[in-house]
Amino acid sequence: MGDLLNLLKDRYSERRFDPEKDVEEEKLDLLLEAARLAPTAHNNQAFRLYLLKGEKGRSILSTFNAPVHIVITGLEEEAWVRKQDSFNAVNLDIGIAGTHIMLEAEDLGLKSCMICDFDVEELTNNLQLPGNEKPVLALAIGYPSQASRPAKKHYQRKSIDELLTIIA
Ligand SMILES: Cc1cc2nc3c(=O)[nH]c(=O)nc-3n(C[C@H](O)[C@H](O)[C@H](O)COP(=O)(O)O)c2cc1C
Repeated sequence: MGDLLNLLKDRYSERRFDPEKDVEEEKLDLLLEAARLAPTAHNNQAFRLYLLKGEKGRSILSTFNAPVHIVITGLEEEAWVRKQDSFNAVNLDIGIAGTHIMLEAEDLGLKSCMICDFDVEELTNNLQLPGNEKPVLALAIGYPSQASRPAKKHYQRKSIDELLTIIA
C-alpha cells in the first residue's frame, strides 16, 4: 500500500491538543503553501487564509486547546459558477484547500480538526472581514496531547457497497 493511503488511514480529527507545544514557523509556512497549491474550479482561487496564532489568535478562535487555527474564507463572487444550474464552487474549493492543509499537517507530524461549527457573525467581526468575504472552514492545528485518540465516529465509515454504484 502506498504512503498516502497509510496516512489517510492513520489520520483522525484531533480534539485533544497539547496547548503547551507551539507549531514551528517553518511548519506553518508549509501548511500555507499546501493551501496555496490546492486546485480550484477554473483556477479562480476564490478563498483567503487567516492564520491565527499566539494570544491574539486564541482570543479570536479557541477550540480543543489548539495553539493555531487557520480560517479559510470564501469570496463567492470570485468563484467559478456552472452556467446550467448556477452551482457556485466556492465551498468545494475551500474544502479542497482545507484538505491540503489537513494532509500536510498529518505528514508533518501535526494533528488537525476541521471546524464548521463556529459563530459566523462573530468570526466575521473579529477578523474584520470585508462584506464580500465569508468564513467557511477553520482548522484547529497543533501537536496531540497524551490523551489524544480518535472519536467513535472515526470508525463509523460506511462500507464501499453502501457508497458505490458501478456502471460498466
Ligand atoms: C467540513 C467539515 C466540518 C467539520 N466540522 C467540525 C466541527 O465543527 N467540530 C468538530 O468537532 N468536528 C468537525 N469536523 C470533523 C468531523 O466530525 C470528523 O471528520 C468526522 O466525524 C470523522 O472523524 P475523523 O475525522 O476522526 O475520521 C468536521 C469535518 C468536516 C469535513
